[in-house]
Amino acid sequence: MFLYKTHVFLIISLSLITVRAQDDEIFSNLIDGGLTPMQNFKADLYEVDRKEPTEEPEKVEIKLFYECLCPDCRLFDTTSLKPTVAKLAPYLKLNLYPYGNAQTTEISDGVYKFKCQHGPKECYGNRLHACAIDYLSNITATVFFNSCLMDSTRKNNGSDDEAADECGRILGIHPGQIKFCAKHDRGMYLLKHFGDESKKVGFKYVPYILINGVENDGSKFMKDVCAAFKHPPAACAQAQASFSRPPTDTSDVTTIKDKVQIKVYYESLCPFSAQFFVSQLKPTMERLGPYLDIHLIPYGHAKTRRVKSAYKFTCQHGIPECFGNTVQACAIDVLRNITRAVSFNACLLQNTSYRSGYDYFISVFHWCGSQDNVDVQTIWRCVHSDHGSVLVKRYGDETHALAPSFVPFVTIDDSTIYQDHALTNLYSTVCKLLKPTPRECPL
Ligand SMILES: *[C@@H]1O[C@H](CO)[C@@H](O)[C@H](O)[C@H]1NC(C)=O
Ligand SMILES: *[C@@H]1O[C@H](CO)[C@@H](O)[C@H](O)[C@H]1NC(C)=O
Ligand SMILES: *[C@@H]1O[C@H](CO)[C@@H](O)[C@H](O)[C@H]1NC(C)=O
Ligand SMILES: *[C@@H]1O[C@H](CO)[C@@H](O)[C@H](O)[C@H]1NC(C)=O
Repeated sequence: MFLYKTHVFLIISLSLITVRAQDDEIFSNLIDGGLTPMQNFKADLYEVDRKEPTEEPEKVEIKLFYECLCPDCRLFDTTSLKPTVAKLAPYLKLNLYPYGNAQTTEISDGVYKFKCQHGPKECYGNRLHACAIDYLSNITATVFFNSCLMDSTRKNNGSDDEAADECGRILGIHPGQIKFCAKHDRGMYLLKHFGDESKKVGFKYVPYILINGVENDGSKFMKDVCAAFKHPPAACAQAQASFSRPPTDTSDVTTIKDKVQIKVYYESLCPFSAQFFVSQLKPTMERLGPYLDIHLIPYGHAKTRRVKSAYKFTCQHGIPECFGNTVQACAIDVLRNITRAVSFNACLLQNTSYRSGYDYFISVFHWCGSQDNVDVQTIWRCVHSDHGSVLVKRYGDETHALAPSFVPFVTIDDSTIYQDHALTNLYSTVCKLLKPTPRECPL
């Protein structure tokens, strides 16, 4: 028993020291939050604090308020935060607050209970995230671990013990201490702390992202982070360059390839899908249209049910998204011209978000129709007919067959190997694949 206690005590003290090294703010706030055992270490840690590195690089401060089961948080973490941290970790002062829209109640002196938006599983998941921040003491490793927990391919929505074990295995991290922390007082205090910090900020939705204190919508996160530096680190320029350097192609130079097939799996209210249409797909199509064979698959993370002779859908961003997916599907069907469909659908995506209401959507629908001279009445009839849901159902079948872990998900010639490049620089990805290189591509 004594040994056991000593062991636990050591774990706590070690993790406290590492938290201190990683993030002053978390530590000092934990003290304020009344974590009494920590005070024993205050004196030692104070010394650690005095050792300023001689040449501190310019850092951009990022704060991310999130909760582990929120779909948009999972998307942001895995597709934006993780790749950015992978490239820019030394230049970031990153603080994660895994709490979101939860509520804290003190049930007796120093004992807290939590209520989470997505139920008790989310509270436990948030504790795992909080404990990983505390225990791993390395923000890169923490982001990798936590975004692995949140990966949408995880069983049971991720962020549970099973995910912790699997992510531990993948990343070479022992998840035992993290799970232990999450189940015991330490996890409770950490979550209480992140709750207090979250309430000070008073956001209305998650993920709530601050870059140097300025709210960011996360749709072009890395770019916005790079723009926040007075002197952007070389990694920002390199990232830009590597985006524009497509994968090396070792195929025979005499092979002719005059068409590239692009499939885009997306959903109507996903800001990242909108961003891809507006900044990649549409401009690339305008420059390289004759060389492209584009397929749009508007469905994303939706689900299909058969109810008697009809199909019912549930969508990641709720009913408005299912409606939006049907409009996208009907536009493709009615227009029968992919150039026009990409343009009209991009217009809809660009002008609507999950915060805009139905009336606003209708006005955007008509506005986009007038921009591209589209017969919106025919599309409207399709949306309100069985044909509309049959189209979405088919896109659902196609999507389920591939089971993409995030959206937008892009395949090139049915392969995912160019995905990263395609998402960030579709134009140069296509140029690199075409043989011979057409004159529309830069030399
Ligand atoms: C932090 O973790 C990353 C990813 O696991 C690793 O590459 C890096 O060396 C670690 N940094 C330190 C200071 O341990
Ligand atoms: C995953 O999340 C969805 C939506 O929040 C919920 O309906 C479902 O029950 C969850 N699945 C598990 C296994 O927890
Ligand atoms: C598709 O629409 C574009 C733009 O309006 C037009 O230039 C093109 O000729 C159309 N393609 C077909 C096959 O009708
Ligand atoms: C749609 O978005 C474009 C580009 O941001 C903007 O110019 C236009 O005014 C928007 N239309 C509506 C109806 O909001």
